[in-house]
Amino acid sequence: MRQARPAARRRFVLGSVAMGAIAALGAMPAAFAADKKIVLGFSQIGAESEWRTANSASIKSAAKESGIDLKFADAQQKQENQIKALRAFIAQKVDVIALSPVVETGWGTVLREAKAAGIPVILTDRTVQETDTTLWATFMGSDFVEEGRRAAKWLTDKVKSRPAGKEIRIVELQGTVGAAPALDRKKGFEEGIKADPRLKIVRSQTGDFSRAKGKEVMEAFLKAEGRNIDVLYAHNDDMAIGAIQAIEEAGLKPAKDILIISIDGVKGAFQAMVAGKLNVTVECSPLLGPQLMQTVKDLKAGKTVPRRIVTEEGVFPVEVAAQELPKRKY
Ligand code: AHR
Repeated sequence: MRQARPAARRRFVLGSVAMGAIAALGAMPAAFAADKKIVLGFSQIGAESEWRTANSASIKSAAKESGIDLKFADAQQKQENQIKALRAFIAQKVDVIALSPVVETGWGTVLREAKAAGIPVILTDRTVQETDTTLWATFMGSDFVEEGRRAAKWLTDKVKSRPAGKEIRIVELQGTVGAAPALDRKKGFEEGIKADPRLKIVRSQTGDFSRAKGKEVMEAFLKAEGRNIDVLYAHNDDMAIGAIQAIEEAGLKPAKDILIISIDGVKGAFQAMVAGKLNVTVECSPLLGPQLMQTVKDLKAGKTVPRRIVTEEGVFPVEVAAQELPKRKY
């Protein structure tokens, strides 16, 4: 992630906006000033996964607790809906816009419109590919490349003692085409397995981060590869859970005949591990609500916010699943 130039940072501290607001408040009755809520427009991707549902819930409840007026728009996986939502937020003159972009590219025009309107944008969960990094104030969320590396590390440790020269055949269920977590998790994983020539990705296809698609694509992998699959790497838990069903229906034992690695750490993954059907999940926390609301308040108060806020996460193998499951918040 590129570092922001100081000038870019200053653009979003809202110093002059805040000063103007304070001046205007002088003429208002005190009760109204205290009651005036910050308005946040949030464009969510959709509801494709357990992760996404937990993310929406976290944002809605944090907004309520923080007294922020949240305008929540569900884009149903479509970038065009997200662009429409952003334009509606701009027309409504919201104070801050938060965006979880479904794909990385194609945001320049609408982000420039927000900037021209003086509305700061926070990227949450996923980032965008734009050369002008002054188009957003901060990006908060996970390091997806690192998640891919962690998944690879678990695998390379796991197969360390297997015979040299014997190919280990991996199938990969990718996330949504063009989405930051799909691109980055692939990159991090490939980087992590590179040093072991036995590890080969033999098939790789999108399962769009959903259970139904994960199952469908895994069925196709099994049909094409038969019993020649040693490992499944799924870019999220939902696709892994769908694939587990396909593996069982094919008469194979998930997590035994085929090692299964996935990402997110949702309750469903822990339940699958406790049932002995998944080997490991790499955590990706959706609980971004409180941090988002704090950042909205900081921006509105004229404070400088960090350009990148990275979520702290862990790795949970099957051995710790039963002990961790009751503690999971999503
Ligand atoms: O952007 C985060 C990813 O999106 C999660 O891993 C996945 O489950 C979700 O749909």
